Amino acid sequence: MRTDLSFTPPSQIETELLAVTAIDTQTAKGPDAKPKPVLLTSDEAVRAAAAAVLSTGEYKAGSNEAVLLHAPAGLTAKRLLIVGLGKKSKATVHAVRNAAGTAVRYTKPRAIRELVFALPDPSADLGLSLEPVTLARASAEGAFVGDLDPDTYRSDRKDVSVQSFTLAAPPSADQATIRTAFNEGVIIGESQNFARSLVNEPGNKLTPTVLGKRAAQMASETGLKSEVYSTDKLHELKMGAFWSVSQGSAEPPALIVLKYEPVGVTDGPILGLIGKGITFDTGGISIKPADNMEKMKYDMAGGAAMIGAMRAIALLKPKVRVIGIVCAAENMPDGKAQKPGDVQTAMSGKTIEIINTDAEGRLVLADGITYARRLGATHLIDAATLTGACVVALGMITAGAFSNDDATFEKFQSALATSGEKFWRMPLADEYYDMIRSDIGDIKNTGGRWGGAITAAEFLHAFAEDTPWIHLDIAGLAWIEENKPFIAKGPSGVGVRSILEWVRRYES
Ligand code: BES
Ligand code: MN
Ligand code: ZN
Repeated sequence: MRTDLSFTPPSQIETELLAVTAIDTQTAKGPDAKPKPVLLTSDEAVRAAAAAVLSTGEYKAGSNEAVLLHAPAGLTAKRLLIVGLGKKSKATVHAVRNAAGTAVRYTKPRAIRELVFALPDPSADLGLSLEPVTLARASAEGAFVGDLDPDTYRSDRKDVSVQSFTLAAPPSADQATIRTAFNEGVIIGESQNFARSLVNEPGNKLTPTVLGKRAAQMASETGLKSEVYSTDKLHELKMGAFWSVSQGSAEPPALIVLKYEPVGVTDGPILGLIGKGITFDTGGISIKPADNMEKMKYDMAGGAAMIGAMRAIALLKPKVRVIGIVCAAENMPDGKAQKPGDVQTAMSGKTIEIINTDAEGRLVLADGITYARRLGATHLIDAATLTGACVVALGMITAGAFSNDDATFEKFQSALATSGEKFWRMPLADEYYDMIRSDIGDIKNTGGRWGGAITAAEFLHAFAEDTPWIHLDIAGLAWIEENKPFIAKGPSGVGVRSILEWVRRYES
């Protein structure tokens, strides 16, 4: 998708489709309280063109509600699309991100190849605090996210992608800062889509080796250092936990290491980003039921989020050193597969009693975390589709987050205000760790039914130890079950934006 930025008044832009946003300003409640939609533009000609449809009450400016007008009077655009942000109180930058996605997803199936999205430009008397700079970035992100569909292997696939997305910013805005923010949004949206496209790939197409190749190719395109190791390196590093997952598969594992080393930054923190990269999770010998097992191709979404975040980091160049590590393997049942009861020795030296071979994500991450610390990481963040228990706890609306350090977590919390992603901090405690003590060795890989997301986090905590660390359990968010107006069902790319923002908060 080509992108452009324009400071021409929207009514004067020649285009196939001009999209503008609207809010519902009705504050009264009850059966007689009719919606009062108002366009968020100061362009009088656009307001006039929309006046008739807004006055009828047919269009309510509900969240992502869209209405299309052809040949709008007084505009050079051929069509005018109005996208709702909902009630005034809901009209945040995050609603605008989604509205840009909705505009793209409205345009796309109609094979209209270009659109202009007018940056919300609310009149002062509405009292909305929407900053043009944050809006410009979010609009670009939303547009790219909206443009991606998962039907890559359909033989009759008609690629009707929007080819050109132009953001029309108010002429009064500070053009240079808007341009920077818009370009950032493009990079972030593309990086999120890169992660999504990796997650979308089926297990037979995207093996650990292929994931390593994709990451290395991205690294060479963006100037990251990269190394992709396999079986021999796992043995050399004594990564007994990581290897135990891959030993039952004909596909070799991949230890993907991406390094971002900005020139002139020789001290300060080194951030370690560790992703679970299980390219397919059958459960292993503790095999999963057949129902929905096909979905387990997305068990590398945490790894993909890290690869996407590293891409954005490489292109946005924050002044902080970052190491990205993805532990990729396929979890299969086989004559060589590990068995419940087996004891494995992790890279850190801890011994792990395998209770359930389906609790494999924590095994690969344990060694990934140890390796990140060995490489000098001072602060860690991991992302993983780790537990069904986290989905039971928080549903598919909010992802789980855990941390052993409040200051580190605060930075993540503040990143969420920018990213718009929903994470909720869950507890850690010694009593949960007690649930995963092993009789035969140091630690068990499952702690029973209750508090399953937390005992999984405590397992990782045992390897992060006292290094400041955040764990993100994205099992419920990495795959979207239903189409939304602003994003296709399928891989979401959750995590990319929040992890990037967290990294930026360590800039020197
Ligand atoms: N990849 C799964 C977790 C998962 C479940 C992700 C559902 C997305 C949706 C993970 O490897 C797993 O199998 N976890 C087990 C752990 C259990 C055996 C302690 C689980 O959650 O059931
Ligand atoms: Mn599993
Ligand atoms: Zn898994």
